[in-house]
Amino acid sequence: MRIGILGSGLMGAKLGTIWARAGHAVVFSYAHSEQKLKRLARNAKGKAQAGTPREATQEADALLLAVHWSRVDDVLQQAGDVSGKTIVSCSLPMNADDTGLVIAHTSSGAEELAKKVPKARVVSAFGTVPSEVLFYCGDDARSKKTAATLIRDVGFDPVDAGPLRIARYTEPFTLLIAQLAYEGDAGPELAYRFERFGRKG
Ligand SMILES: NC(=O)c1ccc[n+]([C@@H]2O[C@H](COP(=O)([O-])OP(=O)(O)OC[C@H]3O[C@@H](n4cnc5c(N)ncnc54)[C@H](OP(=O)(O)O)[C@@H]3O)[C@@H](O)[C@H]2O)c1
Repeated sequence: MRIGILGSGLMGAKLGTIWARAGHAVVFSYAHSEQKLKRLARNAKGKAQAGTPREATQEADALLLAVHWSRVDDVLQQAGDVSGKTIVSCSLPMNADDTGLVIAHTSSGAEELAKKVPKARVVSAFGTVPSEVLFYCGDDARSKKTAATLIRDVGFDPVDAGPLRIARYTEPFTLLIAQLAYEGDAGPELAYRFERFGRKG
């Protein structure tokens, strides 16, 4: 797959590197310095390169949106036409100091993103890391398949949580994981898995 990384920070740099090493063609974009993007591409080996958000988007089969909520409009504007593109978003609708969700309960960041880019196919995924099990949800079956492949390629089990509006539940859940990871005493290297104890399924 050709994957465009929109936002090459903690999430974008790491996921992009793993996908490049798994054999995907990755374009890292959107950082404060081009040097950083070039370094990421060099270190990722494989078919990775640095580019502008527009270059990352043009030929992409899938885009990873991994910027702070306050940068979403800017990076989308730089990306240009995203019609028909699968956008996998891990971006949470956080306030400026990352202390709370600015959208919740009656909507979600993923749904608001889908409204901003109605011609794109938005899937919400990777927002719940650090974890061993990732949720993803979306309204477009083909894009969800793409997201599931990308989740498997970083070594996680994809769990289909349903339509995009389920991001209303996964986004606040992420704050629980962040609390355990960053406010607890045991550090952020934590994982969880979901078990079913009934006979069904
Ligand atoms: N980190 C996590 O564990 C985690 C977990 C779940 C969800 N999320 C969500 O994922 C999203 C990305 O998080 P992150 O931790 O990866 O963020 P981050 O490390 O801050 O990465 C954001 C990227 O955007 C770039 N950027 C910011 N402002 C820019 C500007 N004005 N011009 C050009 N580039 C700019 C940064 O450039 P530089 O590289 O030069 O700084 C960086 O590459 C957020 O919405 C966050 O809520 C994060």
